[in-house]
Amino acid sequence: MVDMSVTLAGQRLRNPLMTASGCAANGKELHRFFDVAELGAFVTKSVMAEPRSGRGTPRMAETPSGMLNSIGLQGPGIKAFVEEDLPWLASVGARVLPSIAGSSSEEYAEVASVLAASEAFGAAVGVEVNISCPNVANRGLVFACDPVASSTVISLVRETLPPRVPVFAKLSPDVTDITAIAAACLDAGADGLTMINTLLGMVIDTDRMRPQLGGVTGGLSGPGIRPVAVRAVWQVRRAMLEGVMPTVPIIGVGGVRTGRDALELVAAGASAIQVGTATFNDPAAPVRVLDELTGLLESKGFASFGDAVGVAHQR
Ligand code: DOR
Repeated sequence: MVDMSVTLAGQRLRNPLMTASGCAANGKELHRFFDVAELGAFVTKSVMAEPRSGRGTPRMAETPSGMLNSIGLQGPGIKAFVEEDLPWLASVGARVLPSIAGSSSEEYAEVASVLAASEAFGAAVGVEVNISCPNVANRGLVFACDPVASSTVISLVRETLPPRVPVFAKLSPDVTDITAIAAACLDAGADGLTMINTLLGMVIDTDRMRPQLGGVTGGLSGPGIRPVAVRAVWQVRRAMLEGVMPTVPIIGVGGVRTGRDALELVAAGASAIQVGTATFNDPAAPVRVLDELTGLLESKGFASFGDAVGVAHQR
């Protein structure tokens, strides 16, 4: 039997499988299909200080390479999140990686402080700081395109949260050098990285001859971005191995539908895997991917999941 447990920045998880932020709001939707407490961690939809309705509709489009969304960070706001969503996840025994967002570094810090003061925060195994949402006016919220902006947000959140709670910075693929952003986040105190958020794209409706999404552009997720995610994880892991930045856990995300897809990210250097878009077709995809990944590691003779992390760099 392969040991699938993993320790991420000091937090021991029963396995490396997580949901990806945004594909389920708070877990109740997916709990009808599988027990969310079976996951290594449940990652929630990014929450901001106030309730938000997001961008206008239509805000989803399907393409052969994946799905485009222009949701625009719809959500209940941090108050409702800590009063309802987090306590519900804690009540079913889920381990939670809350995702937070803000339109200014101060807003990130405010959201983090309300979260840290909340009763159910004990269920959190860390906080994922979404600095890479592509769906906001003028791309103004994409802190992850600028090392200084990334660093400002991460250091404020790091100062706000108790030291035992790891901070994971979620990075954007829409940058020329993702290792520079990763290094800035680690310098600012991030304990780990999540790679990648969606890739900026757009679709034109050729019947109406106009952009298909209300928000014009959107974030591409699904199979088309998997090679981009593998490349990003590989590059940052490589930079860690070369001593360019400290070695911290990388959570790999982008187009994972099968155990084989997950294994690709693990071999590139990911210590945990998030499954997002695949849940639209198969709500239990995260636990199915866990089973498939476990079987693959067993068939390849790995004693533990940890032994497979980054193996492609040794060959
Ligand atoms: O593609 C995305 N859509 N990435 C995010 O970080 C947020 C989300 C949204 O709400 O627009």
